[in-house]
Amino acid sequence: MTTTSTPFAPVKWQDDALVLLDQTRLPVETTYLTLTTAQEVWAAIRHLQVRGAPAIGMAAAYGLYLGIRNSDANDFDTFWQHLSEQADYLGTSRPTAVNLFWALDRIKARVQRESGKPVAELKAAVLNEALSIQREDAEVCRRIGEHLLTLLKDGMGILTHCNPGALATAAYGTATAPLYLAKERGWNLKVYADETRPVLQGARLTAYELQQAGIDVTLICDNMAAMVMAQGKVQAVIVGTDRVAASGDVANKIGTYGVAVLAHAHGIPFYVAAPLSSIDLDTPTGADIPIEERPAEEITHGLGKQVAPDGIKVYNPAFDVTPARYITAIVTENGIYKPDEIRNCKR
Ligand code: MRU
Repeated sequence: MTTTSTPFAPVKWQDDALVLLDQTRLPVETTYLTLTTAQEVWAAIRHLQVRGAPAIGMAAAYGLYLGIRNSDANDFDTFWQHLSEQADYLGTSRPTAVNLFWALDRIKARVQRESGKPVAELKAAVLNEALSIQREDAEVCRRIGEHLLTLLKDGMGILTHCNPGALATAAYGTATAPLYLAKERGWNLKVYADETRPVLQGARLTAYELQQAGIDVTLICDNMAAMVMAQGKVQAVIVGTDRVAASGDVANKIGTYGVAVLAHAHGIPFYVAAPLSSIDLDTPTGADIPIEERPAEEITHGLGKQVAPDGIKVYNPAFDVTPARYITAIVTENGIYKPDEIRNCKR
């Protein structure tokens, strides 16, 4: 498997610890956190220091190892109980990105397969599986990028929402992968990054990482997307996802649904970049996807300054669901699917 890297290392296993690039401080400060307990990893996920579905899965995988590495279990059953408790605990950090549960389940499945081995070897298997998840993610993103690139042409305007970028994955990002590959090939794509209220992942993270890579990126406020489309500046929308249901409905950062409706109204294709780890065939439709609600302060004090009256009622869902009918294609590492074909993507 080839591995390549983009300039960011949001998640690193280094010197027996999990090292995370603190994404709450970007783009102003580049600060790394060194985590040695599952509790610290839980908090880093909850507080968005690591965020984006694949990166959450990777961090949780290492968190599971940190949670069991000092287990005093001497037999499989006790070790399994410790592992399951830690996995359940890490699973409470954030509810929407299915990659979190996928990564924890993948590690549990590996331990089940190796259940005859001594506990010390099972612990090593947990770490090895976490390392494999991260290694494979870079290749998965590159393959998604190559498939997406077949849908694009040099010179196009591309709009994206939130940060489905290198900062959210092992390398390349999902929705940003074709942008990095296009750059490698000398194409000139013009990218519009929605700022992505209320936490501003588009402004703080996507605009930052694409600018660092020398990609032509223009930051817009979320409420400018309609005008930019009407002006003919956008020929495709590409977003990431936190969970794709079996129906082809897609959960992604709040505001994605509105962008999809706008793209539909302007006859612009709307593509979802989705690693297979984000596709949850056990969730029948978008209505069954758990949607995280986040603290009111993200809206009332979003820029570190009070911008709303004391005591105001706030509704702050972190994600929305784009119905399959607004989605032109879902692009996985295995290829390009119509939303109603997504049930077959893992075959
Ligand atoms: O709340 P966040 O920043 O974790 O939300 C991230 C997104 O919505 C991304 O678009 C999604 O996880 C895909 S990342 C490749």
